[in-house]
Amino acid sequence: MVRENFDVWREIVADSERLQKTSLRELFSSDTARAKTMTKTVGDDEFEIVVDFSKQLIDKECLNNLLILAKQAKVLEKFAEMRRGIKVNSTENLPALHTALRVAATSMVKVDGEDVVAQVHDELAKIKSFVEKVRSEKKFKKIINIGIGGSDLGPALIYEALRKGATPTIECIFVANIDASEINLALAKCNPRETLFVVCSKSFNTAETLANARVAADWLARALGVKIDSHEVAIQFVVVSANTKRAVEVGVVAANSFQIWPWVGGRYSISSAMSLAPIIAFGFEMFEEFLAGMYSVDDLMQNAAPEDNATLILGLIDVLNFGTQRFASQAILPYTSTLRLLPSYLQQLIMESNGKSVQSDGSAVQVSSSPVVWGGVGTNSQHAFMQMLHQGMQTVPVDFIGFAQISDGQADSNDALIANMLAQASALAFGLANDEITSSASDKIELIAHKMMPGNRPSTVLLAKTLDARTLGALIAIYEHRVFVHGVISRINSFDQWGVELGKVLSLEILQKLRNSNDVEVADKRNFDDSSTKNLIDWYRQSRKAD
Ligand code: F6P
Repeated sequence: MVRENFDVWREIVADSERLQKTSLRELFSSDTARAKTMTKTVGDDEFEIVVDFSKQLIDKECLNNLLILAKQAKVLEKFAEMRRGIKVNSTENLPALHTALRVAATSMVKVDGEDVVAQVHDELAKIKSFVEKVRSEKKFKKIINIGIGGSDLGPALIYEALRKGATPTIECIFVANIDASEINLALAKCNPRETLFVVCSKSFNTAETLANARVAADWLARALGVKIDSHEVAIQFVVVSANTKRAVEVGVVAANSFQIWPWVGGRYSISSAMSLAPIIAFGFEMFEEFLAGMYSVDDLMQNAAPEDNATLILGLIDVLNFGTQRFASQAILPYTSTLRLLPSYLQQLIMESNGKSVQSDGSAVQVSSSPVVWGGVGTNSQHAFMQMLHQGMQTVPVDFIGFAQISDGQADSNDALIANMLAQASALAFGLANDEITSSASDKIELIAHKMMPGNRPSTVLLAKTLDARTLGALIAIYEHRVFVHGVISRINSFDQWGVELGKVLSLEILQKLRNSNDVEVADKRNFDDSSTKNLIDWYRQSRKAD
């Protein structure tokens, strides 16, 4: 028997059961105001995102209970604590202060007695003057961003999302994988004298990033005919890290470096200097807008009345979908190619934050953890995996994300995107009943079962005016705080990631085995001495030799 964390939980479970027995068709026909009351807006004077969650399997009573749950779990109090710098990341004894990266210079947030806002704004000023210098000198035509996880996905997302609207003066290429073909392909596109390397790593301990940075520095040094640690190489390298000393220790010599801090999680670092590459490409003003959009959402999350707080409600719907309904995955479908990286970005944000099975106190998770997050560009997905979402045996809640005006101004193409998006959301929710099939088609009777669309598949539509920097920032912040809500109610520490550590350690040990044939018999009783891994190591080494 699962112990319940919150008094109202039992009622929410009952709501879920009741809602499973009804249908979205019934819910809409019994409440003509449903679409209106279940649509909220996130925005300020400069942007607007409409959030329509009326096609979720929810009704007024259930929504009300979810809001009671938020109260019982003290979600907004805990959000305020996080923003104040309380050490919410208990396993690493750290605050999680990504929200401090976007507050006004006049604010104050203290960590261990020191005001971090002043540090953030000092760094922003440094970034601004560096960016303006690089843009005005016009020396660099390309930037290669070297980093992985949060040190890659965030800046790459901003670059791809905003590229259409403002032609970048400098092209950015993102290299993450340790696969040499990736860095070699990037280098092949670049002129050594015109390329700036931005090496992003919070820890500066990440094997992929260090290996790629070395390849890049070596390539540049050779091309310039200088030593790898020379000034000529250093001025074409920039480091972004919480550990810039370590960059020097591992031989990445950069003339310029920018700081992030231990209290910014890698997957929450998009609002820091980690986004340097797109800031150079689009200009510092773009970043100010991006941060303003994030701040607006931070502020609304904290201050909006709970019943109008779209971000809070979206987090509570995640709790409903993945906690009580026990759906296993979440699809993210942006209806614009410029957001093609959003599903990968959110995969890290959501799954690395909440993909845990113990609560902060070390006991087993009671409510729910992270869904599997996946997705793709909307229209393309319709011709790939949407079949399963419509008629498959699993229910997958979907987030549809669209824009009223896509920046290149082609209204026809935008109309088609939005028509497709709304059609998919409607088909998922309302399906196609038996009698609708027979009356609308001359089908043979045996095809009816195949054409039947069950409906009742929940989705949320997020529709914004345009995809500019401010809206993008707001969208990302909405997801950051949804993760927070789900994490608080599941009593998870959303800010550590111990699950990725073991694999990192083992891969280094296996690498030694792969490279040193005499070692393979040494039984050091590590995990990879299991017979499967050992056999595969042997096979690989023999095959590798045969090359
Ligand atoms: O994969 C784990 C992780 O630590 C992520 O949390 C992080 O974004 C990524 O690796 C890269 O880490 P770093 O910025 O320290 O190189």
